[in-house]
Amino acid sequence: MNGDSAWQRLFAAGKRASARRIADLFAAEPLRDERFTIEALSMLFDFSKTTISEGDRALLLDLARACAVEARRDRMFAGAPINETENRPVIHWALRLPDGASLMLGGIDIADQILETRRRMAAFARALRSGEYRGEGAAAITDVVNIGIGGSDLGPAMATRALAPYHDGPRCHFVANLDPADITDTLAGLDPAHTLVIVASKSFTTMETLTNARVAHQWMAGAVKDPGRQFVAISAHPERAREFGIDPARVFDFPDGVGGRYSLWGPIGLSLMLAIGPGDFADFLAGGHAMDEHFRAAPLEENMPVALALAGIWHRQVMGYPTRAVLPYDQRLARLPAYLQQLEMESNGKGVTLAGAPLDLPSGPVVWGEPGTNCQHSFFQMIHQGTDIVPCEFMAAAEGFEEDLAPQHGLLLANVLAQSKALMLGRSLEEARAMLAREGLSPEEIERLAPHRSFPGNRPSTTLLYPRLTPRILGQIIALYEHRVFVEGTILGINSFDQWGVELGKELALALIPVLEGEAPAEGLDPSTRRLVGWLAARRGSTG
Ligand code: F6P
Repeated sequence: MNGDSAWQRLFAAGKRASARRIADLFAAEPLRDERFTIEALSMLFDFSKTTISEGDRALLLDLARACAVEARRDRMFAGAPINETENRPVIHWALRLPDGASLMLGGIDIADQILETRRRMAAFARALRSGEYRGEGAAAITDVVNIGIGGSDLGPAMATRALAPYHDGPRCHFVANLDPADITDTLAGLDPAHTLVIVASKSFTTMETLTNARVAHQWMAGAVKDPGRQFVAISAHPERAREFGIDPARVFDFPDGVGGRYSLWGPIGLSLMLAIGPGDFADFLAGGHAMDEHFRAAPLEENMPVALALAGIWHRQVMGYPTRAVLPYDQRLARLPAYLQQLEMESNGKGVTLAGAPLDLPSGPVVWGEPGTNCQHSFFQMIHQGTDIVPCEFMAAAEGFEEDLAPQHGLLLANVLAQSKALMLGRSLEEARAMLAREGLSPEEIERLAPHRSFPGNRPSTTLLYPRLTPRILGQIIALYEHRVFVEGTILGINSFDQWGVELGKELALALIPVLEGEAPAEGLDPSTRRLVGWLAARRGSTG
């Protein structure tokens, strides 16, 4: 295991922490509120409401050093092939480099290519948004349908929703699922003459995306003479997009060293750029780049992605909590938990180290969540009183965009602060008894109800605060989480940049297609799958 003795010291610290109350740490560490917050780039990250003591924090930082986080970070930013199982560099951060930057890899300036593609995207976006680029019969493009899945969907869908106050371009729609319901329902309200279709696929081989793209093409061909004119493709394999029949002038590419789930910053973000315009998109990139610079330059003790990652390591690998909840008190970040599910779980859901040995630590956690305050009225019961501990990652903006409703935003903030406070402090049995006595209940009723009305407390959470969800701040938040994943993956000694675990299901699906269609025998299947196939075969086509 990476950093063996540092881990052993941490496991011992974790045992001591199990018997400790967070509230007592504030008494023992008078500067805790200050020392367990990091302020950078106008954002504040607070990890004081955790069981991590000053001493534990030092051990976590020792672990990061023992696992050479800084050296690996520098290798990533130098373009070294740290994605060892695919023999590639990891260069999604290069997509947010500013104009004039350079990144030489194998004698080629990759930054030049990236910036040239960004210029082409911006020119296309300007032409479409100004009405210079039009659909059939000189119809203005009012709607854009992005067809892609995983990283080719979640990033642009999440960010487009997050930046709704900046929308002044076409409406954007997102189709991901192979379920024909998705494309059917999306196209149902649209006029082909006024629609642009973006086929987004890094590999340009993904079954879902190519199948939906063909359906969209047929839909377009049924109404316009030159359907191809209203198709754009985004891929790291532009030749495949051209073979698919998309005009090279409207194919935007990006390097293979950009993982799908990290690709929002380049052409995969075209739908976002069309919605908010190239200027605001540039601010989004500038935010991501600012977080890169912070991650590269800030000492480990003051480094926000490192602090977020070490809190993650503490909760998952040291304390053993299997999940963590992401709770943005920001409705426009409603898709952020889904986005982070892919980012974190596809990156760090690995059971084998870089050296090919079984990982003898728990892999990355289950990541889930919902925006607040909705979450308070669904699963928070379990978070407050259930028997499992779920570390919570709260986030909130100081201000919303609805200036006339500023007091309502204040209610939102009161709620997010109340939740983390309630999780930390809880309510003891004695406090519950006293509360029920004040309500005038009889002694028998008090004894009966007090256990139900008490809260164990001591439930950990972190809080990220930011001024307002601008493009720049969104860029900072996304890059913060990307680097968090990098630090956690480096400490675990795994490759955060491949995803072999998604392949087996894809292969088996291909093999099952002819069986389901009755063109191949079901005999070779396992008994359970064979039975399911049989049940489906008896009913398919009979429900109409
Ligand atoms: O199946 C997983 C995956 O490969 C993701 O990593 C990726 O984001 C998604 O599929 C879509 O892939 P592509 O962009 O190549 O269509």
